Amino acid sequence: MLDELKDYLKKLEYINSTIALLDWDVMVNMPEKAEKYRSEMLGYLSGEYYKMTTSEKLKQLIEHFKANDDLDEITKSSIDKIEKEYNKTKKIPEEQYKHYKIAASLSYSAWEEAKKKSDFSIFAPHLEKMVEYNKKFAKYWGFEQNSYNALLDIYEPSITTEKLDVVFGELRLAIVDLLKKINASNVSVDTEYFKKYCPKEAQQKFGKLVLDKMGYDYKKSGRIDESTHPFTTNFGNKDVRITTNYDENDLRKALYSTIHEGGHAIYEQNIPDDLQGTMLAEGASMAIHESQSRFYENLIGKSKEFWTYFYPIAQNEFNNFQGVSFDDFYRGLNEVKPSLIRIDADELTYSLHIIIRYEIEKMLFNDDLEVKDIPYIWNKKYEEYLGVKPKNDSEGVLQDMHWSDGSFGYFPSYALGNLYGAQFLNKMKKDILDLDEQIEEGNLKVVHEWLKNNIHKHVKRQITPN
Ligand code: CO
Repeated sequence: MLDELKDYLKKLEYINSTIALLDWDVMVNMPEKAEKYRSEMLGYLSGEYYKMTTSEKLKQLIEHFKANDDLDEITKSSIDKIEKEYNKTKKIPEEQYKHYKIAASLSYSAWEEAKKKSDFSIFAPHLEKMVEYNKKFAKYWGFEQNSYNALLDIYEPSITTEKLDVVFGELRLAIVDLLKKINASNVSVDTEYFKKYCPKEAQQKFGKLVLDKMGYDYKKSGRIDESTHPFTTNFGNKDVRITTNYDENDLRKALYSTIHEGGHAIYEQNIPDDLQGTMLAEGASMAIHESQSRFYENLIGKSKEFWTYFYPIAQNEFNNFQGVSFDDFYRGLNEVKPSLIRIDADELTYSLHIIIRYEIEKMLFNDDLEVKDIPYIWNKKYEEYLGVKPKNDSEGVLQDMHWSDGSFGYFPSYALGNLYGAQFLNKMKKDILDLDEQIEEGNLKVVHEWLKNNIHKHVKRQITPN
């Protein structure tokens, strides 16, 4: 019967991987007119997945093994994980789940068009649907009072608005306070050299060099492609793909999205082989996943040590840095300047972008805000917290894809990831006494090994307290 269970879980992962592969294709390759047929394919496969995660057969398997005491730890965790998913999915009526998946796919396309035309009204009816579906799901799961908590729990188990209000409340005040001081200072930083024309090919070459050093195997176990919004996806640990987005007039954009996604990708590649096909082969939580990408992007990728090694190479590869001293480059790289676009934000103001999205999501799900009023609230909060105001929806409320497919509750993961990352660096420095020197010599292997042993091998297992 154990073989039967393992076989069942494997089939579930196959469907999951197929859906992920089709989703990857939607964002990287798919011709425009293929949209309708593709959403039908995805709808069908999601339906099959739904059937398998709610079947009588699975229920019997879970019950059988729940009663069995002498299971190995991995199987036990698999059972707990699939039981949680069974309970969650079983409560959503099948037709609704299928319609939701189709609506999500159409909503993503509508968001793309809306962003291109900078017109929120194209996206608004789809967004309304996504919010309504998720509100309903939260009720099915038993979150009558605060449906947003149900959504937060998907990405960061046991985190709640009560906890986040405290953490984000403190963080917001501290950042806004520091930002005021920075804005009032008369220190200015030159960053013009980043904005000189820089051909895509040169950026690709340098990006690959950094990824190599980070230990991301894109040659035999991955790929690098382009998409509007950079992301990482994987089908097992031997096929982990990232995407990036090049701007030939600002090389920082692709460079930092590449490092960010590289941080996610090495996590997925380091998930142990024996966990493949067990439903456990994924990050411990989304915030832990984001901690890996944000850690590499900011704490390593903007550090003096990292650039001690990479700056001479960058000076060779790009025309941008002739006559720019290391110190000026380093200061420019770490410039603090409130901006409109989250993924381009500096390390300090980044979390404010997240806090704005968190506050808006919370209002939406507590019925304190209607979809049509989001752009107004969005712009108001940007002015209040960051002192900047979007000129249009494209650089405002439409910039992120997350809401288009119903991923509400995901954004807080990034800011929590920042906080986790800082703590990981602190511990890493205690464990590796010559960490700075190693990084200065381009030996990022020590970082990779530490992350692998302390973070990456710890996946999404249910910890049963005893
Ligand atoms: Co990320």
